[in-house]
Amino acid sequence: MHIDLISKVAVVSGGATLIGRAVVNALVSAGAKVVVLDVDEAGQSIEEEYPDQVKFITTDLTQDQQIKHAITQAQQLFGSIHILVNLACSYLDDGFASKRQDWLSALDINLVSAVELTRVVYPDLVKNKGCIVNFTSISAECAQTGRWLYPVSKSAMKALTQSMAMDFAPDGIRVNSVSPGWTWSRVINEVSGGNRQKADQVAADYHLLGRLGNPEEVANVVTFLCSDAASFVTGADYAVDGGYAVMGPEQNKPAIPRLAG
Ligand SMILES: NC(=O)c1ccc[n+]([C@@H]2O[C@H](COP(=O)([O-])OP(=O)(O)OC[C@H]3O[C@@H](n4cnc5c(N)ncnc54)[C@H](O)[C@@H]3O)[C@@H](O)[C@H]2O)c1
Repeated sequence: MHIDLISKVAVVSGGATLIGRAVVNALVSAGAKVVVLDVDEAGQSIEEEYPDQVKFITTDLTQDQQIKHAITQAQQLFGSIHILVNLACSYLDDGFASKRQDWLSALDINLVSAVELTRVVYPDLVKNKGCIVNFTSISAECAQTGRWLYPVSKSAMKALTQSMAMDFAPDGIRVNSVSPGWTWSRVINEVSGGNRQKADQVAADYHLLGRLGNPEEVANVVTFLCSDAASFVTGADYAVDGGYAVMGPEQNKPAIPRLAG
């Protein structure tokens, strides 16, 4: 299968770190021009890597004026937009101890900003019969200790994907989501002290494939969903989780022998 996104323009929110960068790389490799919106100035380096195909615009996605300004700039530079990837997120989460303002901030970044970005890009997506890929997570379906805000926001993204898919179908816009498992990313790099081997060992218990995912493996699925190869796919959530979601409480260990033994 050949993925061709030549002459397509994509907007990726939160494209400054590892997973976002991998998504940008994959879209660029398929021929797209990509606008990266992030508060993190580190995103500038991806524009330097692909000066003709990538534009980084410093944008706080919780600020409507900044979103509008960024999209106007993007359109002036590359023309109208075909693809939107809502990837930006906050890991702000102190479980039950989280205060109202924390809830509002987390949901603002992880959920509402995706809606507001979609609102501004929507006329172009209608014109181009474009598509949207939202980022959710394995955390959308499985409780994790001490985490309330992030899983709730990711569950909401899943529901939002379905609502968008339904209401945008008459426009010819496809909307899907990806649910990554543990992926080698800024946060896992930081928490593991940069120790990929240790991170893989811990992840092995939770993922049938016995390791973390790579950012490129998530990016490949996003790129597929953005392409004509996925022309009959909408409202779907794609697990990119090495089998995390199919494991129940019995994990992948034979349980019956415990009864018999
Ligand atoms: N890391 C994982 O293992 C994992 C697992 C499942 C799902 N995901 C999802 O993948 C996506 C990327 O995750 P990541 O781990 O690379 O996260 P990350 O924190 O490294 O990247 C998120 C990006 O969003 C940006 N951002 C945050 N607030 C913003 C704002 N107000 N305006 C603009 N940009 C803002 C950050 O600057 C950052 O560059 C997220 O949607 C996350 O939920 C990650």
